[in-house]
Amino acid sequence: MEIIIQETRQAAADVAARLIAKLITDKPGAVLGLATGSTPLPLYQRLIGMELDWSKITTFNLDEYIGLPRDHPQTYHTFMWENLFNHVNIDAKNIHLPDGNAADIPAFCMEYEERIKTAGGIDLQVLGIGTDGHIGFNEPTSSLASRTRIKTLTEQTCKDNARFFGSGEEVPNHVITMGIGTIMEARTNLLLAFGESKATAIAEAVEGPVTSINPASVLQMHPTVKVCIDAPAASKLQRKDYFRWVYDNKPDWQRI
Ligand code: GLP
Repeated sequence: MEIIIQETRQAAADVAARLIAKLITDKPGAVLGLATGSTPLPLYQRLIGMELDWSKITTFNLDEYIGLPRDHPQTYHTFMWENLFNHVNIDAKNIHLPDGNAADIPAFCMEYEERIKTAGGIDLQVLGIGTDGHIGFNEPTSSLASRTRIKTLTEQTCKDNARFFGSGEEVPNHVITMGIGTIMEARTNLLLAFGESKATAIAEAVEGPVTSINPASVLQMHPTVKVCIDAPAASKLQRKDYFRWVYDNKPDWQRI
């Protein structure tokens, strides 16, 4: 794991944007795994400003609510079009999101896994992290070998996500999410976290034991993970000075 600590969320998002921009430039047909939530927003804004060529890029999103109409303002489908896809020259046929209204959800989940394989696998997966350490919607105690499937959200995650919904509106508690096994097959994982509310989840994921209680901790077993975080999200890391020192002293050829 490479832990990249920047003073602000914008600076951390800029590092992540440079990484993705390099991938898109070096591999114009790359396959990106994308995330939603407030965390990737500064990343997407920066990528839009870079005017990269997305015409051959393929994307797979991590997760989606079950049962919300596709055009509901809170679906991850709507989120992705509003915050990224409408602003870049991506080909709509290369965009993949879990279908929370599929007639047969288990069959859809298996097909989603197949589509990822057929596309050649995910080159780089963007991840946020929940306050309980979840990645995608893989809540604590998710199997570390899980594949794309239905999950039931914890009360905490429903509470965390309620801020995006209108008052009195119910937050769906069933979702489709790529599994942890699916995420672990991405060639690179890029985990972003901003703000003090993520500090415990990040400290446990990076410095704690590998455990399904903090699903992000499984990334310790992945060969290529970059963790781009701001100073508040890094505040509970015991080795934060070491991580800063490593990043500040990178040889020039390794700089992002
Ligand atoms: C949701 C998403 C996750 C995201 C998490 C954190 O649960 N399914 O992919 O990482 O929220 O959200 P935020 O970035 O808004 O803190």
